[in-house]
Amino acid sequence: MKVLVTGGTGFIGSHTIVSLIETGMKPVIVDNLDNSLPSVLKSLEAITQTTIPFYEVDCNDQEAINQVFEKEKDIEGVIHFAAHKAVGESVINPLKYYQNNVGSLIVLLEVMKKHQTPHLVFSSSCTVYGQPGQLPVTETSPIIPAESPYGNTKQICEEVIRDTVHSSQADLANFQLNAILLRYFNPIGAHPSGHIGELPLGVPNNLVPYITQTAAGIRDTLTIFGNDYDTPDGTCIRDYIHVMDLAEAHVKALQLLANKSENGSICEVFNIGTGKGNSVQELVHTFEKVNNLKLNYEFGKRRPGDIEQIYASVDKANQQLGWQTKRSLEDGLRDAWNWQQKLIK
Ligand code: UFG
Repeated sequence: MKVLVTGGTGFIGSHTIVSLIETGMKPVIVDNLDNSLPSVLKSLEAITQTTIPFYEVDCNDQEAINQVFEKEKDIEGVIHFAAHKAVGESVINPLKYYQNNVGSLIVLLEVMKKHQTPHLVFSSSCTVYGQPGQLPVTETSPIIPAESPYGNTKQICEEVIRDTVHSSQADLANFQLNAILLRYFNPIGAHPSGHIGELPLGVPNNLVPYITQTAAGIRDTLTIFGNDYDTPDGTCIRDYIHVMDLAEAHVKALQLLANKSENGSICEVFNIGTGKGNSVQELVHTFEKVNNLKLNYEFGKRRPGDIEQIYASVDKANQQLGWQTKRSLEDGLRDAWNWQQKLIK
């Protein structure tokens, strides 16, 4: 299957490219390099030993996206990663987020409809659950009004896709869209080769890049945001999933779409996590242990908007996608440090 991957040089996108090629799929990358570097493409070609078609195009540019579809001809599926993702920035500049994240999805769906491209895998987020009343959180847990414009764009995009699938169910002759919405938990780690990984531009927002940059001496001290939460050690709990496990879930999603959709349009949602929660402090200690080093850290104030604890139920993904995680927290933290060290050199 030829698959258009938007945001294919980003963190999750680039790792998914590797998994797609390993399974014999043919990815085509579209990325405007807003939050990634052109060198990622070279690294991908080094890992996979293949030439990967790449278009430096903004997903909001409908004419340019249309031209990619025309040039590539037989695109059967789209994985849509490309989006802005900084929660804090979205609060300061919400229009940027609505325009880019929601606008680019609509552009893609229009072009997919024009070219009768049937399969879509969409990057959603566990942020749609807010602070769940019950853990682990399942796909049928309530969707909570989003804390940030970023989170809201994920909810809106899910609804845009659902409505489009419903309309295609009512009008099969016109456009049959099948979609899988993957709700990611917290991706960490890097490809074990150390050729690709997370490349935050500027000061990292997320925990693991902040940890690796502190270990590398780029940052002085990691601040753990709050140790007075109602959790065993007082720090927040998340479900940290190795980015290669997450990447493989996209391959399974495309395979499910290709197999299941013969009987009409489908729209399914899956949690993609490990099913296990770890606290920030546990994560820091595990990082120190597996990499045999000491991290400079201190406890600070709570970060506004943080969820106290969340982790996934992954039963549905295990059963219906036939997917499960293969890598541990230790693997993720080892691979993240390996990647950071190669970046310094
Ligand atoms: N944390 C720290 N110090 C840091 C950075 C993070 O203690 O320097 C803590 C956070 O307070 C949180 C945990 O580490 O408890 C994880 O934080 P991240 O920023 O790495 O991840 P989040 O769970 O906050 O964010 C994730 C996704 C977002 C999504 C968000 C919704 O990365 O895309 O969940 O809550 F929007």
